[in-house]
Amino acid sequence: MKISPLQKARYDYNPKLPKILRQEIHSIIPVLGDIAEPDTDRKELKAIFPNTYGKPVIGFTGGINETISEKRNVGVILSGGQAPGGHNVIAGLFDAIKNANSESKLFGFRGGPSGILENDAAEITAEFLDPFRNTGGFDIIGSGRTKLETEEQFAICVEVCKKREISSLVVIGGDDSNTNAVVLAEYFAVNKSGISVVGAPKTIDGDLKNEAIEVSFGFDTATKTYSELIGNIARDANSAKKYWHFIKLMGRSASHIALECALQTRPNIALISEEIEENQTTLKEIVEDIAKIVAERSSQGNDFGLALVPEGLIEFIPEMKILISELNDLMAEHSAHFSTLSTFEAQSEWVNTNLTKDSSYAFSSLPNNIQRQLLMDRDPHGNVQVSRIETEKLLIEMVENRLKEWKNDGKFSGKFSAQHHFFGYEGRCAFPSNFDADYCYSLGYNAFMLIASGITGYISSISNLSAPAEEWKAGGIPVTMMMNLEQRHGSMKPVIRKALVELDGKPFKEFAENRKTWALETSYTFPGAIQYYGPIEVCDQPTITLSLEQQGK
Ligand code: FBP
Repeated sequence: MKISPLQKARYDYNPKLPKILRQEIHSIIPVLGDIAEPDTDRKELKAIFPNTYGKPVIGFTGGINETISEKRNVGVILSGGQAPGGHNVIAGLFDAIKNANSESKLFGFRGGPSGILENDAAEITAEFLDPFRNTGGFDIIGSGRTKLETEEQFAICVEVCKKREISSLVVIGGDDSNTNAVVLAEYFAVNKSGISVVGAPKTIDGDLKNEAIEVSFGFDTATKTYSELIGNIARDANSAKKYWHFIKLMGRSASHIALECALQTRPNIALISEEIEENQTTLKEIVEDIAKIVAERSSQGNDFGLALVPEGLIEFIPEMKILISELNDLMAEHSAHFSTLSTFEAQSEWVNTNLTKDSSYAFSSLPNNIQRQLLMDRDPHGNVQVSRIETEKLLIEMVENRLKEWKNDGKFSGKFSAQHHFFGYEGRCAFPSNFDADYCYSLGYNAFMLIASGITGYISSISNLSAPAEEWKAGGIPVTMMMNLEQRHGSMKPVIRKALVELDGKPFKEFAENRKTWALETSYTFPGAIQYYGPIEVCDQPTITLSLEQQGK
């Protein structure tokens, strides 16, 4: 196989571990800390998770570890969307397993959680793994979005693990996958299967974070990749001075990615969904605000600009949120009937007669292509797939119409010519930045340390991440401490709390303090491509979001 020079160089990169994990593996022992409990729903969660609730935080220290070298078979699953660094989690896990006992084995289930249900696994050997070290993608074993959530599925997991003599599973996933992982851990414990489960926090979206998990892996590389592209577009806009660029950014519900990219590139406009929801800003008002900035820049002779739009925006606009929720319910309840409606016209007519009056109005006021996108297939959770809704085009069209009205009234005499972009998949499989390469390797190595400590229902935690890797702290957090009860499909379910952008947090405040200036004065910054070799201030810096969040801690 032909490989690029960078790929070759990255094979030889040695990811950095926290100081404690650099010690010889047989000289590291676990230390039990305080019992970790969630802020809310304690009684209910304790009842649902009798074996995995109320467990202590775990850290590590030096000492003779007499049990770490036991022979163990471990299974690993990559779950959900790709995020840079997944291969390094597996590499860290593998190296720790083999350091502890060269006869222990690691099995990678192929294609995500369905791999375990189908008993489809590859034994990960050094030869198999080496070409994937420090590379992007999940292609070493593939990923998938099958959910492990039913007792039948759990029973199959036990059977498959027994067949392969697997005593621990590592689930690399986001909030949903880690929620399912702890439910599985509880099932294994209740059924005395002797199998433990440990998670690793993955998602470019950055919404799996809390006091103990400072960031999910992949966020660093993905936002740096998008910021490079946004910076390049900004420079193009400032050179040609003829286009407004509307850029939609992945991130599902949360706007962490849009916010981080805004801090890195200083665009004229960046919408933050959480703020729009908080202020109950309507679509009309959003359009009005954008049009005002366009007109004001135009009056200064600047008929160009840059607007960042978070992927999940549409679900946070009050009237759209209601519309989407009504559509989700309608399409779920009447799925059989809906599937018989073969044309868009028939679907939209049926939908319009079944929506409430306000939602029917909101639906009808949308351009045809957006209406079609809102009626597309739902994801496995029954939700609209926000990455497929072209909100950036919707905004361009509506701003254009508003400016035309102003032109007719003599209030606007400039030009508005817009380009649209969507950055998402471009960043999910990039070569992990040094930060993600180090962080992921540490998460994987640490996941084995947790397994070897005999615990279950934990998530691998590496913290103090804005310091150099040597000062990072390694440990484990019981997943139940990150959970609460939420309404899901008509009943209360235990889930990991999703972290949205906090409007009183430092990253948002930093943005809010500067956005007026950035709107009118062209203030773009150009982060450039991720650098892997060179001075640490260029190569090893964490995101602005993480640095601000860690300030003063
Ligand atoms: P995860 O939450 O599984 O990490 O996936 C994140 C994400 O990249 C979102 O940002 C995006 O909305 C979604 O996946 C796209 O899903 P798909 O890969 O199925 O198109």
